[in-house]
Amino acid sequence: MRNSVSRYAVLGSPVAHSKSPRIHAAFAAETNQQLDYTAVEVTGENFNAFAEDFFAKGGAGLNITVPHKEKAFKISNSCSERAMLAKAVNTLLLDKDKRIYGDNTDGIGLLRDLQNNHELSINNKNILILGAGGAVRGVLATLALEDVSSITIANRTIAKAKLLCEEFSAYAEVMATGYDELGLTKFDLIINGTSMGLSGETPALSQSVLADQCCCYDMMYGNEETAFVKWAKNNGANQAVDGLGMLVEQAAEAFYLWREVRPDTAAVIAELRTLG
Ligand code: ATR
Repeated sequence: MRNSVSRYAVLGSPVAHSKSPRIHAAFAAETNQQLDYTAVEVTGENFNAFAEDFFAKGGAGLNITVPHKEKAFKISNSCSERAMLAKAVNTLLLDKDKRIYGDNTDGIGLLRDLQNNHELSINNKNILILGAGGAVRGVLATLALEDVSSITIANRTIAKAKLLCEEFSAYAEVMATGYDELGLTKFDLIINGTSMGLSGETPALSQSVLADQCCCYDMMYGNEETAFVKWAKNNGANQAVDGLGMLVEQAAEAFYLWREVRPDTAAVIAELRTLG
């Protein structure tokens, strides 16, 4: 008899160290769902064929990670508004007509982590986003659709920040700048979306960008404190938070899209924090 357990996977490259299989196994156990979730290394040239074949053979859903989120957007037959704005997709499933539907849960994952796990509302806040690459593109739509006061995107390559600014300024007050041009402006929330943490670095920011009660949020996470979290603590930020909670919250939203059950995230975040 055919195995009837629903099949899910995360596709990426590299993907071997992904925590997603552990997170989804924990969600499945907690909500009494039967499912199989694996991590699959897929190269760019094989991505489309693999994803389409996965669904053709009865697969139920995919998570997509670096570097395939734009490709996943392109193979989606339809998608959510937030994915359309991001032009990037991290969650795929089949719609009722068995066509591929794409969503992007990164932004809502960030928002839920801020709001639910750190009691931080972004309403009426002046937000500084560091970086203008794929990670930032993925969350900008969700932030811009909230009731924020302003979003400033600072990037080494200002032209990339300007492009994002043009794309998203219809939804919020969005500005683009270089790090040196930040001047004396202060921000309530600073989100690091650069990849500089991979080499233990942070953008060169003056302490003066931190408003009173400023929260610094690093979209990166690791077993050790990230470079940006260290910078934030050393410079007197009121809160300094890494992106582990965002990782779990984006997964919870994907799980909800697939299973229509919302898992509790607190225990999973705590377990990953303790066990690494
Ligand atoms: P990701 O998918 O992780 O977002 P990406 O699209 O390559 O990766 O984006 C990386 C981001 O980190 C970019 O904003 C990049 O700045 P540039 O657009 O100027 O390249 C930023 N970044 C990476 N290394 C950096 C460095 N050494 N100094 C400043 N910014 C850096």
